Amino acid sequence: MKLLVTGGAGFIGTNFILYWLAHHPEDDVINFDKLTYAGNLENLTSVEKNPHYRFVQGDICDAEHVSEIMKGIDMVVHFAAESHVDRSILEAAPFVMTNVVGTHVLLAASLKAKVRRFHHVSTDEVFGSLKLGSTDTFSERTSYDPRSPYSASKAGSDHLVRAYYHTFGLPITITNCSNNYGPYQFPEKLIPLAITNILEGKKVPVYGDGLNVRDWLYVEDHCRAIEAVLLKGTSGETYCVGGTTEDINNLTVVKKILAMMGKDASLIEFVVDRPGHDRRYAIDWSKIKNELGWQPQHNFDEWLKRTVDWYTVHGEWWHAVKSGSYQAYYKTLYKGAV
Ligand code: NAD
Ligand code: TYD
Repeated sequence: MKLLVTGGAGFIGTNFILYWLAHHPEDDVINFDKLTYAGNLENLTSVEKNPHYRFVQGDICDAEHVSEIMKGIDMVVHFAAESHVDRSILEAAPFVMTNVVGTHVLLAASLKAKVRRFHHVSTDEVFGSLKLGSTDTFSERTSYDPRSPYSASKAGSDHLVRAYYHTFGLPITITNCSNNYGPYQFPEKLIPLAITNILEGKKVPVYGDGLNVRDWLYVEDHCRAIEAVLLKGTSGETYCVGGTTEDINNLTVVKKILAMMGKDASLIEFVVDRPGHDRRYAIDWSKIKNELGWQPQHNFDEWLKRTVDWYTVHGEWWHAVKSGSYQAYYKTLYKGAV
């Protein structure tokens, strides 16, 4: 089988490619990635000489290049996106371009190339925000209610993917997954930002009152969920994917990391809240469990600690990532507060 993985030099795409080549060594994987600030080929040096792996630098908005690369592809696994909510608040245009227009370019090329499956990697953020203290959860039946430019652009792409199924018969699947953590995550996201700031002796910025709740999933569990959907999922279906954390708020996550690293709460800096900050996410992943037999295998406390250890021993990786343009972004976003 020949897979086209878009955005394979980013956090989840990298973990997916490493997972897929290890578990399906007979398959060919093409990694098509623009290498934005979030793409890093260093992540994939261990497979760059593997004859079943090929990297192609390209933009999913480039229709000519995309249709060229699509020839002979069996399955598309679409990760490429602008993925950070805070950046979408600073500048939304690249989110509309890559997430909406780029996804459309891929869909049109996939239809023309008659791929066997177009799998779209989406987020639980398309469902909006749940009330703090409620027991409500997002499921495949929840109405879309995106509230940030990031989630609105992902929602737009989900709708286009379903439109290509209903209107043109393109075989598609979608996963809407909660917050991932693990190796190779760009340190603009909460968990790697907290760990690397602590390693640098800096404070950890916590937005607002720190009581916002996310559902956390170890990245390899997400990769296994996508594998299950690719191999056993039904075309046209959506699957919600989530972890085992139960209403754990950001402050608790940061305090756990501080404790694991032998530090106390004095390193927490409450900073001005994110505009439109979604209060609570929670996922009902019973459909993928009942229909495809998938469930998370990685316990949060244990794998958070392993993630802390990964960043601790991979200083070179994140020091390189946190230099250059990251510094300017950090100053703009946090306005010198941390
Ligand atoms: P990331 O930002 O780490 O990586 C994105 C990758 O896409 C980068 O390698 C980047 O170079 C590439 N890219 C960006 N624009 C491109 C373009 N126009 N053409 C080709 N490549 C381009 O993102 P991530 O955290 O790995 O997320 C991957 C996907 O999973 C995204 O679609 C995201 O919405 C979704 N998702 C992420 C999470 C999470 O917690 N990180 C949770 C659920 C869903
Ligand atoms: P993030 O990792 O950006 O993921 P998302 O916004 O897609 O859920 O943020 C996770 C949570 O952590 C979210 O509620 C915002 C919060 N947060 C902070 O409190 N401080 C920070 O510096 C960052 C980046 C996020």
